[in-house]
Amino acid sequence: LSSNFPNIIQRKRDGKNLRDDELRQFVEAATALTLGKEVVPAYQISALLMAIYFRGMDFKETLTLTRAIADSGQRLTWDGVERPLVDKHSTGGVGDKLSLIVVPLLAACGAAVPKLSGRGLGHTGGTLDKLSAIPGLRLEFSPDELNDLLRRNGCFIAGHGAELAPADATLYHLRDVTATVESLPLVVGSIIGKKLAAGADSFVIDVKVGRGALFPSQPKALRLARWLKRAAEAEGRRCVCVITDMSAPLGRQIGNANEVDEALDILGGSGSAEVAELSKLCVELAAQGVKAAGLAESITAARVLASSKLADGTAREVFEKMIAAQGGDLGSFLRRGKERLTAEVIAPRSGWLRRLDALTIGRAAVALGAGRRRLDDELDLEAGVEIVTPRGAKVSEGEPLLLLRANSEERLREGLALAAGAVTIGDEQSTQRQLVRRVIR
Ligand code: URA
Repeated sequence: LSSNFPNIIQRKRDGKNLRDDELRQFVEAATALTLGKEVVPAYQISALLMAIYFRGMDFKETLTLTRAIADSGQRLTWDGVERPLVDKHSTGGVGDKLSLIVVPLLAACGAAVPKLSGRGLGHTGGTLDKLSAIPGLRLEFSPDELNDLLRRNGCFIAGHGAELAPADATLYHLRDVTATVESLPLVVGSIIGKKLAAGADSFVIDVKVGRGALFPSQPKALRLARWLKRAAEAEGRRCVCVITDMSAPLGRQIGNANEVDEALDILGGSGSAEVAELSKLCVELAAQGVKAAGLAESITAARVLASSKLADGTAREVFEKMIAAQGGDLGSFLRRGKERLTAEVIAPRSGWLRRLDALTIGRAAVALGAGRRRLDDELDLEAGVEIVTPRGAKVSEGEPLLLLRANSEERLREGLALAAGAVTIGDEQSTQRQLVRRVIR
């Protein structure tokens, strides 16, 4: 395997299409590294990633890669689960706590949702990190235990163990440290490869667009959405992609524990105008999944169903059951001490708060300790950014805009320097943001 690898790198470097056997070798090499064996060194896999980044891959290569990633481990099957299986995924955002709401909401609408999530990456947060703020919550389970959780509660949120798409763990990690995350075929292989292995029949994918998204431009996000859908459908799955705005953070909380708090506000139907805006987005994502799974006749009926299950507290009940079944203690989470050092970003002048830049706020949250710079960094789960004054508001000089929390002065200083650059105040009111840009059904 290894002696042939430089050849594969060279062929892609020179712009050739890789053959199926070459792509399979690439995925086998990554899988071996995840499992602690080395058949090809990481530097050669990284070189191929960079060649793919620059040369791209056509759809046929992308599909072969996707299937090979899915087959690099076990493909989960859900014996005894009677409900239609729906999965939800996001390409990654800032303040994106939507999975915490959409997963139980889909289950409340009658779907089974086997949700396997990841940790934060770069400036974007990860659902597993947010959930790890809940004391006692287990996130690693055997396939049999997952099956049991799904049958009992209609959903779970857990981490992927090494048995599921193991190739992706190495590819993702190497991409993260070699500036090759933003490659369309690699993103499609990573997302759909994992989704295929997780075994749902329908996927709802939230494709982010705007600064703070993996692909900031609308044409690239649209192309990603189309390829994700094509790859899923080639494997007989239904797939809806919802392109949503990630130019500013979602909601008012960016971090981990504070995002779980905000998710509970959404599930409980209480809170600010941003909470109402996020509720609408959760209903839309759930409705697209409900429709794709055949749980409603029309998208209008699906929206009515999802909206009622959020409003009447059913989704919240499912969330509480799911957390309890995974060993989490929501009571002590809600009673936890949140004491941290704090600092504020204040309005440097009067005017309209026109912009809260998602990318910069995401980076500030990482600096504060809410995200990792190295794989082994320990998170401060209470660290993060709270948006005190929402985008679009009229502000006076000296008014607090952002509240930062961290556990050291040094982190706070660094976070503050970054976060101050995230706000733009202008003389004119900004237009209201439209969260859902397009639905690719
Ligand atoms: N999310 C994933 O799971 N994989 C990617 O490559 C990008 C976003």
